[in-house]
Amino acid sequence: VADQVDARALTVTVLGGTGDQGQGLAYRLGCAGVHVLIGSRDPERAKRSAAAIDAKVDGLVEGAGNDEAAARGDLVIVAVPWEAHEPTLRDLTEQLAGKIVVDCVNPIGFDHRGPFRIEVAAGSAAEQAATLLPRSRIVGAFHNVSSSLLMDEQVDDLDQDVLVLGDDRPATDVVRALADLLPGVRGVFGGRLRNAGQVEAITANLIAINRRYKARSGIRITGI
Ligand SMILES: NC(=O)c1ccc[n+]([C@@H]2O[C@H](COP(=O)([O-])OP(=O)(O)OC[C@H]3O[C@@H](n4cnc5c(N)ncnc54)[C@H](OP(=O)(O)O)[C@@H]3O)[C@@H](O)[C@H]2O)c1
Repeated sequence: VADQVDARALTVTVLGGTGDQGQGLAYRLGCAGVHVLIGSRDPERAKRSAAAIDAKVDGLVEGAGNDEAAARGDLVIVAVPWEAHEPTLRDLTEQLAGKIVVDCVNPIGFDHRGPFRIEVAAGSAAEQAATLLPRSRIVGAFHNVSSSLLMDEQVDDLDQDVLVLGDDRPATDVVRALADLLPGVRGVFGGRLRNAGQVEAITANLIAINRRYKARSGIRITGI
């Protein structure tokens, strides 16, 4: 179970870690003492981005190319835009084999009416990852956490749950333990991977809520 897993002992890679969500997750995991590798298509950009976060945290945050970062991580978070999901993962099948791969990608589009879900042939980004990476242990998580909240150094209680989805129960336990490291966050098992689509899509609702109420909303599950 999550409280028996020492998630701090993991080296966590964040692919696309130079972006908003990747930096936010790297910052919070670094604060918790986790060794984080920020991945980028450009190793120099990754190093600059990592150095900026490393200066603020208790852990060790390093940067590398996506290839090297994927190969060195024990657990790999995918934090690239939806359009980059397939090509990024297709290139890293060997490096990611046997590893827990955490997908936080939301297939969401924007038009003049605001955010909307994009239909995905595989059902969800997480299921697409499972198709592209048959030898990896795919888990969906961190879809609904605002990057702005993650990066805000004034916020010491994120006050939300992270829904963790997957077919590999021990892998979801590890990712729940990782989510539990974020302040004010509870990792909650949210079902099998086939239920990831609605968790990805509800981010469109959260973005609409944020725009209407000038907020950084999150999800809480009651009753457990
Ligand atoms: N932002 C949020 O609040 C939030 C919250 C929950 C989930 N998410 C999800 O997290 C993912 C990342 O979001 P984000 O806001 O951080 O996105 P982002 O800043 O636009 O992009 C993240 C990184 O992905 C890489 N990238 C961009 N285009 C690429 C391409 N065509 N091919 C390969 N890599 C590319 C870039 O890194 P390099 O140029 O350094 O390679 C970029 O810094 C998205 O799927 C989003 O749905 C975001």
